[in-house]
Amino acid sequence: MLKPPYTCYDQLYVYNFDRTDLGVIEDPDLIGTWIEDDTAILFFHKEKKALIEEIRKRSDATILYEANLNYQDWEAGLDITTFSVHPLVVAPLWETEKLQLQEGEIAIHLDPSVIFGSGFHPTTRLCLQVISDIITSDSTAVRSMVDLGTGTGLLSIGAAKLGVENIRCYDNNPFACAVAEKNVTLNDCDQQIQVKEADLRAKLPDTSVDLVVANLYKGLLLEFFENPDFWKAKYYLISGFIPSMEEELLAALPMDKLKLLERRKSDTWRLWLLAKK
Ligand SMILES: C[S@@+](CC[C@H](N)C(=O)[O-])C[C@H]1O[C@@H](n2cnc3c(N)ncnc32)[C@H](O)[C@@H]1O
Repeated sequence: MLKPPYTCYDQLYVYNFDRTDLGVIEDPDLIGTWIEDDTAILFFHKEKKALIEEIRKRSDATILYEANLNYQDWEAGLDITTFSVHPLVVAPLWETEKLQLQEGEIAIHLDPSVIFGSGFHPTTRLCLQVISDIITSDSTAVRSMVDLGTGTGLLSIGAAKLGVENIRCYDNNPFACAVAEKNVTLNDCDQQIQVKEADLRAKLPDTSVDLVVANLYKGLLLEFFENPDFWKAKYYLISGFIPSMEEELLAALPMDKLKLLERRKSDTWRLWLLAKK
């Protein structure tokens, strides 16, 4: 996350340890610690040879890899900049000062950090577009939402800015949850959005809401589809898959309970909007 004196991301220094219990790491250049598959990936703004050696020794850890890359490379070569999904205008923190809104536009201020959900992946953008379309065409359609795998929290914040009152969002990555919480607060959405750290594989949250958003990977989507408790919402926004996965995913849907309202695509990615019959 961005903390003073940093106002943007430039170089990223990345260190992957083979364990997660590394103790407290307080360093002004630390961006955050990503926990995945029992390993910890530390992101810094600056090279940290001495600190990394100290952590390695005190934790009896092994460094699996280290890398130095620039932020644009981390973001798949893209320049993270302001974009619009009408009426939402999403600005990374380094562009919020120069942001000029037209009448009717609503600003979202985002620290994308190094977390999925900058808005520049086709699936995030598709989801945000459909969320905006559903809510702007019928302001009463979505009053509650669950966001499964929230990343930066952008989809939940977009929904909250469009008036959704009650949103729970989940992620199993503590770093993603910290970034999402920061973004929720930055956008004054604390009353509407609760961020929860949870492994969705271990326990499915209550889906008795108007809209469930799940921009995830195929294996987890299949687990949800096969769980009858998943199908308690009015609408489902499902994304994170490509055409070669569609047949298997479609076959796992309980189509006796569902209507496929929309299929959208962007690049090689697909999205479905489903409604309960
Ligand atoms: C493809 S990203 C989508 C992020 C955001 N919703 C968006 O659309 O940009 C998927 C997110 O799900 C989270 N995730 C993956 N597996 C998970 C699990 N088992 N439990 C909870 N969250 C999970 C990841 O950490 C990641 O932030």
